[in-house]
Amino acid sequence: MPHPVPIETQYWELPRPIRTVAVIGAGASGVSHKVSSADCQLPIARRLRDAGKQVRLYERNSYPGGIWKYQEAKAATPQLPALDPSQVDYQPDLDPVYPSVSKTVFRGQDADAQVNAMAMSFAPPGPSYVTLKNNIPSPLMCFQGMSRDAEKPEEWYYPHSAHQAYLEAYAALHDIDSVASYNTRVEKVDEVENGWRVWSKTFNTTRDADSTTVTITYSVDDYDAVVCATGHHNAPATPDIPGLAEWQAQWPDRLSHALTFRRGEDWKGCRNVLVVGSGPSGSDMAREISVYADNVYVTARPFETDDSPDTKIVKAVFRDRLASTCTIVPTVKRFLPPCGSVGKVEMLDGSVIEVDSVLFATGYYHSYPFLRDYQARRTSESTKIVQSQYTVLNLHQDLFYIPDPTLCLLGVPANISAFSFFEYQGIEVTRVWSNQAQLPSIPAMQRAYAARRGAVSDRNIHVYGKVEEPKLVREIASWLNSEAKRLGVQGQVEQLSGYSDEYMAVKARTVEGLGVRDAADDVRLAKAKQAFAADLAAA
Ligand SMILES: Cc1cc2nc3c(=O)[nH]c(=O)nc-3n(C[C@H](O)[C@H](O)[C@H](O)COP(=O)(O)OP(=O)(O)OC[C@H]3O[C@@H](n4cnc5c(N)ncnc54)[C@H](O)[C@@H]3O)c2cc1C
Ligand SMILES: NC(=O)c1ccc[n+]([C@@H]2O[C@H](COP(=O)([O-])OP(=O)(O)OC[C@H]3O[C@@H](n4cnc5c(N)ncnc54)[C@H](OP(=O)(O)O)[C@@H]3O)[C@@H](O)[C@H]2O)c1
Repeated sequence: MPHPVPIETQYWELPRPIRTVAVIGAGASGVSHKVSSADCQLPIARRLRDAGKQVRLYERNSYPGGIWKYQEAKAATPQLPALDPSQVDYQPDLDPVYPSVSKTVFRGQDADAQVNAMAMSFAPPGPSYVTLKNNIPSPLMCFQGMSRDAEKPEEWYYPHSAHQAYLEAYAALHDIDSVASYNTRVEKVDEVENGWRVWSKTFNTTRDADSTTVTITYSVDDYDAVVCATGHHNAPATPDIPGLAEWQAQWPDRLSHALTFRRGEDWKGCRNVLVVGSGPSGSDMAREISVYADNVYVTARPFETDDSPDTKIVKAVFRDRLASTCTIVPTVKRFLPPCGSVGKVEMLDGSVIEVDSVLFATGYYHSYPFLRDYQARRTSESTKIVQSQYTVLNLHQDLFYIPDPTLCLLGVPANISAFSFFEYQGIEVTRVWSNQAQLPSIPAMQRAYAARRGAVSDRNIHVYGKVEEPKLVREIASWLNSEAKRLGVQGQVEQLSGYSDEYMAVKARTVEGLGVRDAADDVRLAKAKQAFAADLAAA
C-alpha cells in the first residue's frame, strides 16, 4: 500500500527556521544528504547552503562509506539471543561529564591490544565480506551528477571496494570533509527547548615511541534539526530460539552472525553447517561455505501472507540459487541441550540434524542506541520509535518523525535502490525544512500512518520493491512540485519527475541481472571447490 499524502488545508508549520542541522552517519544516506553544504549539482544542496544552513556530519568511523568499507576485523558476537534493538550495536557512554576531555596513556606489550579493543567497541566493524558484490544493478546505485552507466548485466556488478571508492569519490568531489566530524559517535539525541541536543564522543589516538595516548572528547551541541542516517545493518538480529543461550554458554565458537562473516574458508574442516535465514546474506554465505564444509543446511520460512508478488519473486530467487550446493530445511524449533561434542538441532518438522556450526543470517534490527529513550517500551505508542526487528514507528513517508518532523530517520526503507532512493528522501527533507514544501498537520500524518499500519504487517511495513519504490518516488516528486507551486517557489526549485525511463528499464532487469551475477559466481565457486579438493587430496 503506498503512502498517500493526505489532502489537507491544515499544514505542519516549522517550529523555527532550520539553520543548523546534525546529520548522523556518513554512509550512502548520510553522504548524499550532507552534500547539502557543498557546491554541487544537487538542488537540495545548493538550497540548504544558500539558505545558510550549517551542517555537521557525525561519523564514528574515520572515513565515509558505511557498510561498503571492508574490514578484516570482526565485531564481537552479541549475547544470544540478542533481543533489545537498543542494546546490540553499542552502549552509549553517558556517565562522563559533558562537555569534558579525558586522556589515558597505554604502555607495555598489551597497549596495542587494549587500544584496538577500545576502538573496536567504539566503531564495530561492519558486515562487508571478501566476496561481497552489489546485488542490484550498479546503474541504480548512484547519485545525481555521478552516474554509473553500464549497458549489459555483465557490467553491473562490482566488488565492495568499487562501491566504497564511489562513495569516497563522491565525498571528495563535494568536500564532505569540511563538515564531517569523523571518529565521533553520537551517544544521545534529545529534544530541548527550541531544538535538539546532541551528545557526542570523539575517539582519537596518538602514538609515540613507548606509549599510545587515547583522547576522548565528550561534546554537547544544539541544532534546529537532526537527520539520523545510521543505516539498519549495525545491530545483528537473532531469534529467541529455545536452547540457544545454553549453546552459546557451551560452544560460543560454534555460533556466529552474518555481521561477522568474512570468507567461506573460515568453515574449512566443518562437517555440518546450519545457516539460519535464506535472504541475501544467508544464500550468499551458504554458497561460499559450501565450498569448504561437507554439508550446508539453510532454513527457509514460508512466505508472509502480505508479501507482494515482487517480494516473493526475490525471496524465491535467493532460495533457488542454493539448490545445487546446499540443503533447504524448515526453520529451527530448538537447540537440543548440549551433550557430548555433537550439537543437535530439532527443526520445525520434527527432524533432528547434527550441526557443528551455526551462522545466523537472520538480518538486523533497526536500532538507534542514541535515541534510547524513544525505543520500544520506553515511551508511549505515539512517540516511540523502534518496535521490533522490522518496524520503525511513527514516521511519515518512512522519514519524518511525526511527533516532531524536525527529526528525520533517513534510509529506513528496504528492497529499494538505496543510493537513489535515499537521495530523493534527502530532497524531500531539504524542501520541507526550507519551507518549499509543507507537511500535512500532525493529526493528518497520524491518520495516514494509522491507515498504513492497519493495512501492512510489521514485517513488510518498510519493504518496497520494484513496483512500490518508483511509485513512491513519483508521488514524492509530484507532491513536491505541487507544493512548490502552492508556495510560489517553483521558479527557485527543480521540477522533479521521479526515476527516468532509462533507470526504470534497468530496474526491470534486476532479476535477470541476478542470474548473470550468479552464473559468474558459480564458475568462481566451482573453481574454488576444485582447488580445495586438490589441496585435501595432496594433504
Ligand atoms: C551486506 C550488505 C550488502 C548490501 N548490498 C546492497 C546492494 O548491493 N545494493 C544496494 O542498493 N544496497 C545494498 N545494501 C543496503 C545498504 O545498506 C545500502 O546500500 C547503503 O549503503 C546503506 O547506507 P546507509 O548510509 O543508510 O547506512 P550505512 O552504510 O550503514 O552507514 C551508516 C553510517 O552511520 C555510522 N553510524 C552509525 N551509528 C552512528 C553513531 N551513533 N554516531 C556516528 N555515526 C554512526 C556508521 O559508522 C556508518 O558509517 C547492502 C547492505 C548490506 C548489509
Ligand atoms: N549485495 C549482496 O550480495 C548482499 C549480501 C548480503 C546482504 N545484502 C543486503 O543486506 C540487507 C540484509 O540482508 P540479510 O539477508 O542480512 O537480512 P534479511 O534480508 O532481513 O533476511 C533475513 C533472513 O532471515 C530469515 N529470518 C529472520 N528471522 C528469522 C527467524 N526468526 N527464523 C528463521 N528465519 C528468520 C528471513 O526469513 P523471512 O524472509 O521469512 O523473513 C530472511 O530469510 C538486505 O538489504 C540485502 O539486500 C546484500
